[in-house]
Amino acid sequence: MDELVSLCKRRGFVFQSNEIYGGMQGLYDYGPLGVELKNNLKSAWWSSMVYDRDDVEGLDASILSKPSVLKYSGHEDTFTDPLVDCKKCKGRWRADHIKDKACPGCGSADLTEPRPFNLMFKTSVGPVDDGKSFAYLRPETAQQIFVNFKNVLDSTSKSMPFGIAQIGKAFRNEVTPRNFIFRTREFEQMELEFFVERGTDEKWHDYWVKKRLDWWCEQGIPENRLKLFDVPKEDLSHYSKKTVDIMYAFPHGEEELEGIANRSDFDLGSHTKNQSDFEIHANVSENKESTAKLAVQNSNDKSWEVPYVIEPSAGLDRGFLAVLNEAYKTESLGGDKERLVLSLAPHLSPVKAAIIPLKKNNEGLVALAKKIKQSLQSLRLGRVVLENTGNIGKNYRRHDEIGTPVCITVDFDSLANETATIRDRDSMEQKTVSIDSLENMLTKTVSK
Ligand code: GAP
Repeated sequence: MDELVSLCKRRGFVFQSNEIYGGMQGLYDYGPLGVELKNNLKSAWWSSMVYDRDDVEGLDASILSKPSVLKYSGHEDTFTDPLVDCKKCKGRWRADHIKDKACPGCGSADLTEPRPFNLMFKTSVGPVDDGKSFAYLRPETAQQIFVNFKNVLDSTSKSMPFGIAQIGKAFRNEVTPRNFIFRTREFEQMELEFFVERGTDEKWHDYWVKKRLDWWCEQGIPENRLKLFDVPKEDLSHYSKKTVDIMYAFPHGEEELEGIANRSDFDLGSHTKNQSDFEIHANVSENKESTAKLAVQNSNDKSWEVPYVIEPSAGLDRGFLAVLNEAYKTESLGGDKERLVLSLAPHLSPVKAAIIPLKKNNEGLVALAKKIKQSLQSLRLGRVVLENTGNIGKNYRRHDEIGTPVCITVDFDSLANETATIRDRDSMEQKTVSIDSLENMLTKTVSK
């Protein structure tokens, strides 16, 4: 993990947030390369969940949430971690993170009994901070999908089964944020709520577990580094009928990368008006505030029913850490020489190609390099950079380290013959090709 953290800082993937004022625990900023990798991961998820299908629509809803939303969702009552104080060093810990009944800070056994601590952040809304006009910062993106269920249904005339996808920030006042970007207080989720008829829910749950496992493999994580974990009944979230977690071997240990939950009819049932008109199977509390009927007509008997929902919910920051960890390698170059290479799947690479003129500031070479950069950039495959430093070896090393799949060198032969030298990141093989063929080559490389 230390090597990854150091690479992230040195090359501009991830920085400690508010660093020049001493930093803030559990918050991170994504730098110039980090934002590219993050956007590429989001875009791969969106393509697979929305564009490649005909049964999913997208949404980008507000982060500030009315307290009623999180009251009926059950989060006000149940979204807690057990908190323990150390009476000696005054440290605060999650009870389930304590080993051998000893304070992880000072080793003292003088600890308080665990008490529930709600993880939701509150903020006041409007000019008067009277404690009454407040909103929550959403702890999951999901609830705003449920409360928009009718809006999406009415505006798209979708029929069941169908889903609503959203990528966005979520906030949790974690007691002990830790392990770099693995557990933070502000993070991004990529969530799909897939609505199905009761009775088909178990089949769809199996379908999404398989689909999501395959997707992580497509992002460069070998299947043997992922594991499925059936969450035991006693550990299920208050809304879940069944949850399967996709676990990944993170540098600090095997932990959850994504959860796929069968939320039954709990959420739409909780947020719907006139609940007694429906046969709701989950244990929901009475709702006197909702103004919407969150139900659809059954395709067979035309009765109205509250749909069940299957939810694949992935952490974007955890995905970022996993693909980075998987791609990071040091390779021997013979003797005591080695190179650090980030073998990212090319569609995730922050920079797709670097164009390097052999001689810095040489008018002819730089003009040709700029022309190539513009033509490759216009393909809209992602970022293409021009490296006008004249140091080819140093550029190769830098681009190996940040995962650029190809470097393209322009030399004096290029001016005479309209050719360029391409160097492959993984094999380090170099070959001379015609400049005309570069667009095709990059398109093929990035869509691998
Ligand atoms: N809507 C369901 C839900 O929020 P969750 O298991 O609490 O379920 C889903 O969260 C995913 O969000 C997790 O699998 C994880 O990848 C990510 N996640 C949760 N808490 C996180 C945190 N504090 N920091 C970073 N990622 C987190």
